[in-house]
Amino acid sequence: MNFQWYPGHMTKAKRQMQEDIKLIDLVIELVDARLPLSSRNPDIDELGKNKARLILLNKADLADEKANRLWKTWFQEQGFFVVELDARRKNSMKLIRDTIMESCREKIERDRRRGIQNRPIRAMVVGIPNVGKSTFINTFAGKAVARTGNKPGVTKGKQWIRLNKNVELLDTPGILWPKFDDQAVGMRLAFIDSMNDTLLNIDELSLELIRYLTEQYPGVLGERYQISEEAEAVNILEQIAQSRNCVRTGGETDYSKAAALLIEDFRSGRLGRITLELPAGSQQ
Ligand code: G4P
Repeated sequence: MNFQWYPGHMTKAKRQMQEDIKLIDLVIELVDARLPLSSRNPDIDELGKNKARLILLNKADLADEKANRLWKTWFQEQGFFVVELDARRKNSMKLIRDTIMESCREKIERDRRRGIQNRPIRAMVVGIPNVGKSTFINTFAGKAVARTGNKPGVTKGKQWIRLNKNVELLDTPGILWPKFDDQAVGMRLAFIDSMNDTLLNIDELSLELIRYLTEQYPGVLGERYQISEEAEAVNILEQIAQSRNCVRTGGETDYSKAAALLIEDFRSGRLGRITLELPAGSQQ
């Protein structure tokens, strides 16, 4: 399958991020908990060097709980602060505020030694498309926050959202694109909806998902669609089509409809909590 990118957008976004990153103390990077490594852009480590780093394992509600724990430990071992998150809910926001303070402890100490007090931590949110950046900013910032720097007479510049006296957030997230040499990784990014669907062959994608699920999560498809998993992927897709009435006028099986339905069931969590990659050396 051929994946297409938009080099113009990507270069512009990266250049913007290089500028923005100079202004901040902390990079809050969202990754998709179902695909935590492949949903990163490797440039972020270079861009964010010398900054405090917080990884949010977002959409953790859709990912395997055991895998979430493995990934949390894995990222912590790489020196990141990590929080598992469902960005649509407010319940982790205190934990995130506390973790931000912890991740910037060195900066706070340094400021104190220099006699600077109460300089807020400045942070920016980054991540690949669709990982939940806007959702997170909305939930985290809520309605009650003041947007600074947008008053008449104030130099037009960056918009900062004041979260509390300690933290300010750049209001536009940094978008980076995933990178991969491996088609299998591109495929998995497509499963989580981080590629443009119109560029994809949905039938092929669904067959790949069926292969992955029957191998790593046996029983999930059988139970959801009341079908037998003891078959080739294409036959499983056919069974799904039959079980969900995906037929064209004339009675022909509508594979594409079944494929789209399966992928939507996966994306929305209706197939249960599923993770698509584990840290090297871990067992599913
Ligand atoms: P982006 O800015 O990084 O591009 O992502 P955005 O916030 O637009 O989120 C993309 C989709 O992911 C949205 O769904 C959003 O609701 C969903 N989402 C974000 N965080 C989480 C999470 O932690 N868990 C789950 N389950 N979903 C999450 P959508 O269907 O595109 O939009 P909507 O119908 O929810 O508005």
